[in-house]
Amino acid sequence: MANESTENHGKAMQPEETPQLQALYRAFDEHNIKPLWTQIGNIMPRHPAPKAVPHIWKWSDLLPLAEKSGELVPVGRGGERRALGLANPGLDGNAYISPTLWCAIQYLGPHETAPEHRHSQNAFRFVVEGEGVWTVVNGDPVRMSKGDLLLTPGWNFHGHHNNTDKPMAWIDGLDIPFSYQNDVGFFEFGSDRVTDYATPAFSRGERLWCHPGLRPLSGLQDTVNSPIGAYRWEHTDRALTEQLLLEDEGQPATVEQGHAAIRFVNPTTGGDVMPTIRCEFHRLRAGTETRKRREVGASVFQVFQGKGAVVLGGETRQLDVGDIFVIPSWVPWSLQAETRFDLFRFSDAPIMERLHFHRTHIEGEEK
Ligand SMILES: [Fe+2]
Repeated sequence: MANESTENHGKAMQPEETPQLQALYRAFDEHNIKPLWTQIGNIMPRHPAPKAVPHIWKWSDLLPLAEKSGELVPVGRGGERRALGLANPGLDGNAYISPTLWCAIQYLGPHETAPEHRHSQNAFRFVVEGEGVWTVVNGDPVRMSKGDLLLTPGWNFHGHHNNTDKPMAWIDGLDIPFSYQNDVGFFEFGSDRVTDYATPAFSRGERLWCHPGLRPLSGLQDTVNSPIGAYRWEHTDRALTEQLLLEDEGQPATVEQGHAAIRFVNPTTGGDVMPTIRCEFHRLRAGTETRKRREVGASVFQVFQGKGAVVLGGETRQLDVGDIFVIPSWVPWSLQAETRFDLFRFSDAPIMERLHFHRTHIEGEEK
């Protein structure tokens, strides 16, 4: 029956306009009632019809604006972070990059501290360039360096401090829109300074957990969030390099020809690093074009290295290092690599999969 009703969206039955019908509609308004028959096409479309639109933010625009903010706007308690949220042009002026995800460029000047706080929302940082900031997560200082993915899962206290004479910028990803629209968020202030100004090369979480294939017996209990605070670039790079070398040797290692990819995972479960956000890294050989695909849910990419393009909703857009783009639900997309092309990706896939809304269509592969 669902098919029948959706197929009729374009020629929905309409009652005869009579004074009695108008009176009925006025009564609906008075009682805060909306009949389904006047709006089913909008609220139950035949396939996802996102208000969010595909959009690209150029790093060459973002970074100077972050630097200017650094000159004009102090960082501290109240504002909490010097973070510039990317507002999808289809989402009514909110700083939502998609209905579920937040993405911002955050900027911390020389020797500045962003005070500690905690919130229900899950967060990560990805570093496209720079170094010198430590993020302190539940008292564990975590070095932030180029190419690293840093996690701040929900309800962990966190603050950042810049230990150098140079500013640093990175991107933040959170589930703020999902949290806001579903009224699930709590927030608490912590220390005005970070609780530990030590600058170790490796956090305590990494020292305990980051040995390939080895699980500490003190950590046999599975956890919802990954206990790893930092996924280092040297590991990501090596994993991608080996996939392409294996492909050269004729071994099945890549996701498709010329396309190496990894997912960052929680080592206690093998699942996503946090309950609401999936993080991945993709590397294309020069000249590779990925198959066109559509997916339920939103994805955000940031170019890490190289040059290429994204074909997004049928439009080809050139990309340089640092550029960020969003792919709303069910918008077809593919990537084209001009040089070797490295991209960080995050998405709301764990939400979609957990709730069984996920669906993927890959061109040439009927599912
Ligand atoms: Fe935060």
